[in-house]
Amino acid sequence: MTVVVLLAAGRGVRMRSERPKVLHEAAGRPLLDRVLDTALAVAGQAAAVMVVTSKEDSSKEGGTVAAYLRANHPRVGIALQDPPRGTGDAVRAAAATGALRKAKTVVVLSGDVPLLSVEAVQGLVDALTKDKKAAVAVLTAKLADPTGYGRIVRDKRKSFVRIREEKDSSNGERKICEINTGTYAFDRVFLEKALPLLTSKNSLSEFYLTDVLSLALKARRKVVTVSGDPSSALGVNSRADLARVDSILRGRAAEAAMAAGATLLRPETITLDDGVILGTDVVVEPFATLLGKTTVGAGSRIGQGTVIRDAVLGRGVTVRPYCVIESAVVGDAAVVGPFARLREGTDLAEGVHVGNFVETKKAVLGKGVKANHLTYLGDTEIGERTNVGAGVITCNYDGFAKNRTTIGRDVFVGSDAQLVAPITIGDGAIIAAGTTVTEDVPKDALALARVPQTNLPEGGARYRERKSGGKKT
Ligand code: UD1
Ligand code: MG
Repeated sequence: MTVVVLLAAGRGVRMRSERPKVLHEAAGRPLLDRVLDTALAVAGQAAAVMVVTSKEDSSKEGGTVAAYLRANHPRVGIALQDPPRGTGDAVRAAAATGALRKAKTVVVLSGDVPLLSVEAVQGLVDALTKDKKAAVAVLTAKLADPTGYGRIVRDKRKSFVRIREEKDSSNGERKICEINTGTYAFDRVFLEKALPLLTSKNSLSEFYLTDVLSLALKARRKVVTVSGDPSSALGVNSRADLARVDSILRGRAAEAAMAAGATLLRPETITLDDGVILGTDVVVEPFATLLGKTTVGAGSRIGQGTVIRDAVLGRGVTVRPYCVIESAVVGDAAVVGPFARLREGTDLAEGVHVGNFVETKKAVLGKGVKANHLTYLGDTEIGERTNVGAGVITCNYDGFAKNRTTIGRDVFVGSDAQLVAPITIGDGAIIAAGTTVTEDVPKDALALARVPQTNLPEGGARYRERKSGGKKT
């Protein structure tokens, strides 16, 4: 049986953040979730233990790693390391919970190495089990710039000697480009014997897990090194590292979307979270941003500069440039924008048109409804085929509470009408332009509330003369 230990108790000081490092996001998901995916694929939930510290301040941004785990991954075991005193000490904390007891092999992953593949970890486990003398298999990578990583020191015959942390290394050792990815498979029996022997005699006064590998050689056991692909080794220690990982993941999301039949125009300018799903023949114009759990149906077009988060768009939808769409549902063949804002709880049925400078919130619009210009629709339900004229406002807030506006089907709401909620407008009603509606309007009625107009003959000319002091204009 294989148990996976995930290390996530480090302080992450190089991030300079209030938020725990492993809760920082790349392409829309916390780093921790990515490593967990790999761990669970290798071992299953019951056999995964995450090492965290309770010394975090829960009032800080993002909360604690332990709280995040309990809320999102309740079956993953938690081992507390208080205070964090190095990666070796972290594995000791996991062993102290008894979680390793039944394991033949213990896989150790770092919470801050998010691009690691399941195959790479599986390869390590295989390499360890194949070689009877091996006490540990470690995943290494050759990097053009190895700065910050522990280096793999080898002797003249290229045999593994030790891992040297950058801070403890000589100038010569710093030139070594082969690095430790922080991913290991250990023979559990050996690991449990070696952990108590670790010391903290190094520049950081920490207990290094990497010293277990030297202890293996001392015990006349073998250390197997497996060379992995450089990108899967990327560790996140700083914001710059996080940006690199984020960009790799978004690049992969774009490649996957194109492989699945979407056209991305100038893909390097498009931002996709990797949970976003695009149907076939979707076209995404430059500088669009699609985030969270967004899905876009086949044949839809997403206009330039549009931002969409957690929204479900149907088939054949046209989103013209520069819209902001969040937590909304957009039906088939709907047309949105340019410059429209669909907020949470917006639900547009098939063929709805929402045009420029229209804002919707908790607004359910029936089939074929049109609201094409300069309108606010909040806390409202609108029946099929109703036309909402330019500048119409649902006055949903009275300073204390939000109130609902219900509009029937085939209604014509004239331009610049204000609908003072709570209010109901019956099917087929007509609201005259400029009307402030304060009373419910019955079915098929015409609502008109305007001050009667007076035209004063020559009044305009007389006004101009007065203002200009008698001079003809
Ligand atoms: C570590 C390795 C280094 C390797 C690199 C790969 C050691 C001593 N060094 O260095 O050889 O090249 O990873 O990315 O292992 N953690 C704890 N408790 C602690 C300290 C750390 O749980 O007391 C966790 C961190 O949260 C992190 C992981 O262990 O997820 C690695 O710790 P980090 O401080 O990032 O080590 P590196 O300096 O990156
Ligand atoms: Mg690290």
